[in-house]
Amino acid sequence: MSGETVEAWLGRAASLLAEAGVEEPRLEARILLAGAAGWPPESIFARRGERLAEETARRAGAMLDRRRRRQPSAQILGRREFWGLEFEVTPDVLDPRPDTETLVSAALGRIGNRAAPLRVLDLGTGTGCLLLAILNELPNAHGLGVDLSPAAVRLAGANAERLGLSGRARFATGDWGGGLDEEFDVILSNPPYIPSGEIAGLQPEVARWEPRLALDGGADGLDAYRRLAPHLARLLNPAGFAAVEVGSTQAAAVGSICARSDLRLLDCARDLAGRERCLLLARG
Ligand SMILES: C[S@@+](CC[C@H](N)C(=O)[O-])C[C@H]1O[C@@H](n2cnc3c(N)ncnc32)[C@H](O)[C@@H]1O
Repeated sequence: MSGETVEAWLGRAASLLAEAGVEEPRLEARILLAGAAGWPPESIFARRGERLAEETARRAGAMLDRRRRRQPSAQILGRREFWGLEFEVTPDVLDPRPDTETLVSAALGRIGNRAAPLRVLDLGTGTGCLLLAILNELPNAHGLGVDLSPAAVRLAGANAERLGLSGRARFATGDWGGGLDEEFDVILSNPPYIPSGEIAGLQPEVARWEPRLALDGGADGLDAYRRLAPHLARLLNPAGFAAVEVGSTQAAAVGSICARSDLRLLDCARDLAGRERCLLLARG
């Protein structure tokens, strides 16, 4: 036993996290301790009088040190829940965001027959979260996830394996749709869209720890859309659609970029905060 109770550890950890500038330090302290101990986070209150085992205290201390350096908790715990599924997360990939569930919901809302044998493409797959969330909802669909980062491609493959979806999901390294010549019924993409000059001013969890390749959208944040749009137009089957995430002020600009590649706007879905977050597009 380390001597310290759960309550004492949480109090100490929360003040150290607050000093380091971490938002919601008490919640973060609970998440770390639950992760270190292997407890469900909701059980922490009931355990507050318990003394920590030495091994748990050591693990929790190491996690606390990393969080004080502003490493995101998903990287420290090595996992993140997205669309009700658990994904492994490493510093090689973007930590999947709740806002991105808007894209999954919008794409599923557009699919009439969920039993159809659809072919799905995910450009910039990262953890594989978009492709795997969709395949989990469409029992007869198959999909391909592409990323420029070989480490992301390996991780997405491991996530597919763990979720029991590897029989229907392939992953490959590639530069957007370059080198592909098949048609897809559904194309998903959440490309990097933060203007380069804004990255340094983001929270340290993002600016210091998430891969630049997953964030940087060039001078105006729209570079990836300019490169993606012609691939979407070429790879979509005539009856198919694409679902593309956009930054909260980018919907109109991305719509115009896509129109220049003969893509027609079907709909624009909003996230839970009411911001325009996902464009649904079809061939002209
Ligand atoms: C914003 S992250 C999205 C990751 C994941 N789809 C998600 O929604 O959480 C963008 C992804 O695009 C990938 N990427 C950046 N440039 C690329 C390119 N030229 N071709 C393919 N993927 C690229 C990055 O490596 C990163 O995984």
